[in-house]
Amino acid sequence: METMEFVLQYPFGVLEREGFPYRGKWHEEFFHNSNPVVLELGCGKGEYTVGLARRYPDKNFIGIDIKGARMWTGACQARDEGLGNVAFLRTDIELLDHFFAPGEVAEIWITFPDPQMKKVRKRLTGTRFLELYRKVLAPGGVVNLKTDSPFLYTYTREMARHNGLQLIADTSDLYGEGHHCATEILGIRTYYEQQWLERGLTIKYISFELPGQQALSEPEVEIEHDTYRSFSRGELQHPELREAAVKPKQ
Ligand SMILES: C[S@@+](CC[C@H](N)C(=O)[O-])C[C@H]1O[C@@H](n2cnc3c(N)ncnc32)[C@H](O)[C@@H]1O
Repeated sequence: METMEFVLQYPFGVLEREGFPYRGKWHEEFFHNSNPVVLELGCGKGEYTVGLARRYPDKNFIGIDIKGARMWTGACQARDEGLGNVAFLRTDIELLDHFFAPGEVAEIWITFPDPQMKKVRKRLTGTRFLELYRKVLAPGGVVNLKTDSPFLYTYTREMARHNGLQLIADTSDLYGEGHHCATEILGIRTYYEQQWLERGLTIKYISFELPGQQALSEPEVEIEHDTYRSFSRGELQHPELREAAVKPKQ
């Protein structure tokens, strides 16, 4: 990872010690163009970062995750394919505004995050994170969520409805019958997405505009919790252990 100049490793301690050189300067000093900057938060192996970068050479894509071993997969692909419009940033999403200046980001993708059913503050489409995103998004910037989780999908829809956020797309079954992916990019499948599909879950997608100013508040609705969880590493390696992860309701 250290040999790839487009991989920037700034966990909290490093950021605090060294600061970050590209905040407010991604266009001029990193990408050397004025193309829109698009983030993938919790990018894991970076399927969306790399997949979008291949299709849109006129945009810049940055995958963000705290786990370096995962993003290494996407970083190697970007290096091997010579994609000049990709960066990976290893840090905590919570520190986003230390890496991007106001208005520096055009769009955000959130791909298969943990739904954080018990901790609203850790939920990536909760008000705490939406407030953080709009510190860096250009006015009218777009947030895209792809998820397996009925809970997170419903919560995010309610968040949009409650706060009058402008929906751009909304489907509870992206690959369902009669629903041919509106665009080819929605068919990019991430590592977690593939696992959920193999378990028979439907994939949900919601996309909305985040206004720059208006106050945001949490929707006051009871949402049924998901009845399954993701496989642990042991369960991934040993299918016979998977019973405990509970079958999803059909
Ligand atoms: C369930 S995985 C999904 C990975 C990938 N998007 C996919 O669909 O395969 C969630 C990812 O988010 C990352 N993540 C969760 N919370 C984070 C945070 N606060 N800061 C940075 N990364 C985080 C994890 O390290 C993990 O790689």
